[in-house]
Amino acid sequence: MSPQEGREPLVYINGELYPKSEAKVSVFDHGLLYGDGVFEGIRVYNGVIFKLREHVDRLYRSAKVLRLSIPMDREQMVQEVVRTVRANGFRDAYIRLIVTRGVGDLGLDPRKCGRPNVIIIVEHLEPILGSGVREKGITVIFSSTRRDPVQSTSHEVKSLNYLNSILAKIEAIEAGADDAIMLDSRGFVAEATGANVFIVRNGTLITPPVTTGILPGITRAVVIEIAGKLGIPVQERDITPVEFMTADEAFVTGTGAELVPIGYVGKVPIGDGRPGPIFRRILEEFNRYKVDPRNGVPAF
Ligand SMILES: Cc1ncc(COP(=O)(O)O)c(C=O)c1O
Repeated sequence: MSPQEGREPLVYINGELYPKSEAKVSVFDHGLLYGDGVFEGIRVYNGVIFKLREHVDRLYRSAKVLRLSIPMDREQMVQEVVRTVRANGFRDAYIRLIVTRGVGDLGLDPRKCGRPNVIIIVEHLEPILGSGVREKGITVIFSSTRRDPVQSTSHEVKSLNYLNSILAKIEAIEAGADDAIMLDSRGFVAEATGANVFIVRNGTLITPPVTTGILPGITRAVVIEIAGKLGIPVQERDITPVEFMTADEAFVTGTGAELVPIGYVGKVPIGDGRPGPIFRRILEEFNRYKVDPRNGVPAF
């Protein structure tokens, strides 16, 4: 049981901790007005913040593209995240780390904005695609909304602007599916709305390259590392929708979702529609890997 049980979670805003109900930023923040900002989703397993330094590095890379100057260095950011997790006392949690452009006027010009707002939320979060999905698998559709191309508002940048994914998610919900697979502007498989994708064909693990406009996922990198350890060959290459539908196995990876098998594309089963043997081996290893304290920064 958490030592802070019964108390509101504490939210970090620019160095101060506020009870959740009092954690507020201005309606003039360009994060709200324009989706102008960057974020990370991070998990805490057994008191260790999983891949925290990798998440902080990606946050600063995203900010660099937006010319958003984060008002502290990476090590300070790591320490502020640790402090917030510790203050909340949660040993298993989900962290949302956000840096917005800050308060400006009603025009787009980021030069009119003052200091960026740094926000850290720590909460309990169930696996995003629901519990029980690891045994059953999810159903996906191919969305008609294409992944934003790399020459545009690419998801290589983890920005506060997720409309591209939200449109695809709405399409999945309206079709009665759990999630959508988004194709890139050429028609090749890119990723799910908030997770990366892998397929298995003839014992080889295949995942789309970053050139399809995906977020280079930290869980994706872990899965590639685990596959290497297990001796499973990995290819990063374009995947056609037909290859996807006729794969032996398919699954999604992400901090929120963790590892979730795909059972069906619409009414078409992937393999026999159930989690396959390579997915199971990787999941077993991932469940060991994620609680290994060497793979994160201890909060306590
Ligand atoms: C669009 C998108 N792709 C992939 C991922 C998976 O990335 P990660 O494994 O770093 O969480 C996410 C987020 O979690 C995402 O929002």
